[in-house]
Amino acid sequence: MRHFLTLKDYSKEEILEIVNIGLQIKKDLKAGIYKKELQMQTLAMIFEKSSTRTRVSFETGMFQLGGHALFLSNRDIHLGRGEPVKDTARVISSMCDMVMIRTFEHSMIEEFASYSKVPVINGLTDSYHPVQLLADYMTMIEFGMSENAVVAYVGDGNNMTNSWLMLAAKLGFELRIATPKGYEVDEAVLRDALDMAKESGAVIKVMTDPKEAVRDATIVTTDTWASMGQEDEKEQRIKDFKGFMVDGLMMCLADKNAKLLHCLPAYRGQEVSEELLEDNADIVFSEAQNRLHAQKGLMVWLDKQR
Ligand code: CP
Ligand code: NVA
Repeated sequence: MRHFLTLKDYSKEEILEIVNIGLQIKKDLKAGIYKKELQMQTLAMIFEKSSTRTRVSFETGMFQLGGHALFLSNRDIHLGRGEPVKDTARVISSMCDMVMIRTFEHSMIEEFASYSKVPVINGLTDSYHPVQLLADYMTMIEFGMSENAVVAYVGDGNNMTNSWLMLAAKLGFELRIATPKGYEVDEAVLRDALDMAKESGAVIKVMTDPKEAVRDATIVTTDTWASMGQEDEKEQRIKDFKGFMVDGLMMCLADKNAKLLHCLPAYRGQEVSEELLEDNADIVFSEAQNRLHAQKGLMVWLDKQR
């Protein structure tokens, strides 16, 4: 049995296998074919933070695969009132077939997984958002941008940055990260990525100048400057991230066919300009829709590993 907590635990071949299952499922869906590969199975979804895409993709995906998804916010279950993580894990995994968790501390999901009898999926922690990267890579393949990719990430060194680091390090593409001083990526995650890059051939660079990161990049990506849980820091961050908005001018430095990726939700006028986001709406909203197909691919793959 496997959990899906971070891409660090996955090989290049496994990541590609999951994405390819998702692409096949997408093709089938378009042809009106629904394979009920998870018939009678239940996915418990624990949400300690808000979500639009993650909830809708997992819940819809599980239904389309013939199963059922349970939405459990921490206002509804005893976890939110102090029932220990390990007890919650033992109880839920004794009744459900898979668990997806969105939470704060990454250690919570690790503890949950260590007590769970069924696969646990990371639906976002403060440290990683690996299910998003499955959809992002799927989108890169579909838009013909997965070969010789040079990805520039501009913004906060957060769970998305850490996840891009893992993807690049595993798959072996070039990733440049530009963050303002004081908002750098986690040092331990960067060290892991640089170690893995020696094997995969990935080129990973971190810097503070967004223009340097974006120059000739084939993909430019960004994320909110204030992640969930950092709402109180928003005003300060808007000041500290001055010059880091990805807009048309910045995009002019990138490759002439470069595109924007954004995990969404987007804060227009902060990390991305209204105009650039709308110009790239085709790819950005395909990326969002691909969450559905990628998450189905992941659940089918995890089910096969038992
Ligand atoms: N990108 C993403 O995970 O979106 P949600 O927060 O809406 O799930
Ligand atoms: N970094 C963001 C990602 C949202 C999908 C957050 O954690 O809020």
